[in-house]
Amino acid sequence: MRTVSTLPELRAVRAGLPEPVGLVPTMGFLHEGHLSLVRMARAQCASVVVSIFVNPTQFGPSEDLAAYPRDLPRDLGLLESEGAHLVWMPSTQLMYPPGYQTWVTVEDITQRLEGAMRSGHFRGVATVVAKLFNAVQPQKAYFGQKDAQQVAVVRQIVADLNFPLEIEVCPTVREADGLAMSSRNAYLSPEERRAAVVLFRALNAAKAAFEAGDGDAGHLRQVMVDVINGEPLARLQYVSCADPANLEELEGPVTQALLSMAVKIGKTRLIDNLLIEAL
Ligand code: PAJ
Repeated sequence: MRTVSTLPELRAVRAGLPEPVGLVPTMGFLHEGHLSLVRMARAQCASVVVSIFVNPTQFGPSEDLAAYPRDLPRDLGLLESEGAHLVWMPSTQLMYPPGYQTWVTVEDITQRLEGAMRSGHFRGVATVVAKLFNAVQPQKAYFGQKDAQQVAVVRQIVADLNFPLEIEVCPTVREADGLAMSSRNAYLSPEERRAAVVLFRALNAAKAAFEAGDGDAGHLRQVMVDVINGEPLARLQYVSCADPANLEELEGPVTQALLSMAVKIGKTRLIDNLLIEAL
């Protein structure tokens, strides 16, 4: 496995990689969720490139950029054992040198859900993802369903900016009790960690109501709100029952929906989602 942190090195190594090349963009502090993307890329591509870059432009001023967990030696060990071929770890200086001024902004779908709560977040994500695609030039790129809106944004930039690559989406990997794996779970105290399963419980309660015949979007949102409010350590930021294609909030009877939410457990902000579909 090669690790590179300058563009000339990246371009030289990339030129010699057997194709198709699969790219797995990450911010490091890898867990089984990230590794599932690497495994899918390994299964589908001749070469696997993983990027590790804690992208400052997708963090808001009051968010956790400085505290974001990092463990590069451990990450590199994990990627080596998963059979990744190349790790791209640019510096912030390289990605955003002084005078940097080009941004990718995606309009409607970034206004809702996470975008509504985290101003500028998706501008940072879309910009860095476009830069990673340009630098690595993969044939396929791998993203997790855990960040459903991020997937929608990335699909939009691929379509709108004509990136010649396919997006592959991997299912959310969960802990034994259902908590979606996330680098941010490392912030949770043991008591908060026990409370954090409430997101998965709320999503499943809405799914159960849907499967029992209650297809009303407003009711499904209420089911989730009630479960979250039943957990004293949880503070709800939003719940959504939205059209999976454009993330618009649904009203009335639904046959297919993306259920999603953001919840604060103590100081830690967690998100999760579940797709539901009538059989
Ligand atoms: P990061 O949070 O490190 O996540 C990297 C990739 O792993 C994303 O595609 C994310 O959806 C996926 N992932 C995270 N947890 C997962 C889980 N439990 N199951 C399945 N996949 C999971 O998302 C980012 O970084 C950044 O926004 C990035 C795309 C790298 C741009 O900076």
